[in-house]
Amino acid sequence: MTSIQGKTIIVTGAANGIGRAEADLLAQSGANVVFTDLDEVNGTSAAEAFGGHAIFVRHDVSSASDWERAIAAAIERFGRLDGLINNAGIYRPGSLEETTEEAFDRQVAVNQKGTFLGMKYAAAEMKKVGGGAIVNTSSICGIRGIRGCIAYNGTKWAIRGLTKTAAAELGPYGIRVNAILPGFIDTSILAANPPEMNRQAAKDAVLNRLGSPGDIASLARYLISDESSFVTGADFLADGGYTL
Ligand SMILES: NC(=O)c1ccc[n+]([C@@H]2O[C@H](COP(=O)([O-])OP(=O)(O)OC[C@H]3O[C@@H](n4cnc5c(N)ncnc54)[C@H](O)[C@@H]3O)[C@@H](O)[C@H]2O)c1
Repeated sequence: MTSIQGKTIIVTGAANGIGRAEADLLAQSGANVVFTDLDEVNGTSAAEAFGGHAIFVRHDVSSASDWERAIAAAIERFGRLDGLINNAGIYRPGSLEETTEEAFDRQVAVNQKGTFLGMKYAAAEMKKVGGGAIVNTSSICGIRGIRGCIAYNGTKWAIRGLTKTAAAELGPYGIRVNAILPGFIDTSILAANPPEMNRQAAKDAVLNRLGSPGDIASLARYLISDESSFVTGADFLADGGYTL
């Protein structure tokens, strides 16, 4: 038995990119996985690959009623909830001057409010089974000021604050909450950057490459599993040394 086997874990944004790698790795490790995303086509086929051990739920993480449906689907299919990876996120670059109110509000709604709602609804279920683990997805943009992505950066800083406060509140219930801070990871989100920026980021990482979704998935698996049983409220950089 691995410390993941038989646990039920929700992964948001699981149809593509980092979330897909995380959900796949957890399912391969014996977990029951609820893949959630707005992208029904990729999400459905991703979950179907694991037969009875995975389901897909269409889910907008910025919607409280969608969270209620996603959690209910997990409980109905697998009977309990042990873990949540709040991974879904959107990135709309723009400076202070360029960023519209709409772009600001949508990034806060998906990245920041989505993380808040996920923790709120998942923790209520985890309390019923005596504990659990939550992994939130911040970024290297959550430890620095970086020109040209003010709204996104604000949400990624906020996710670290949400993580630490939730860890303090949920620790007494045996629920651990940690944050992953990826560097430049080779997914479709990077298409919003000029190609030269991504090439330079690979050079600026001391490991001299972009990260892969799998690089983040293995860290997420550690944090969601009992292997990390004394770890909570912590930030985990996985950036190939970019921020050294
Ligand atoms: N790729 C990077 O370089 C990088 C770096 C740091 C942090 N991150 C963070 O990692 C997470 C995953 O990013 P990625 O690179 O895999 O991006 P991605 O665009 O490849 O995947 C994001 C997934 O989230 C889904 N999604 C978007 N809005 C949603 C919503 N409202 N509800 C549910 N699902 C929604 C998308 O459909 C998509 O499947 C994000 O939180 C992102 O901010 C990524």
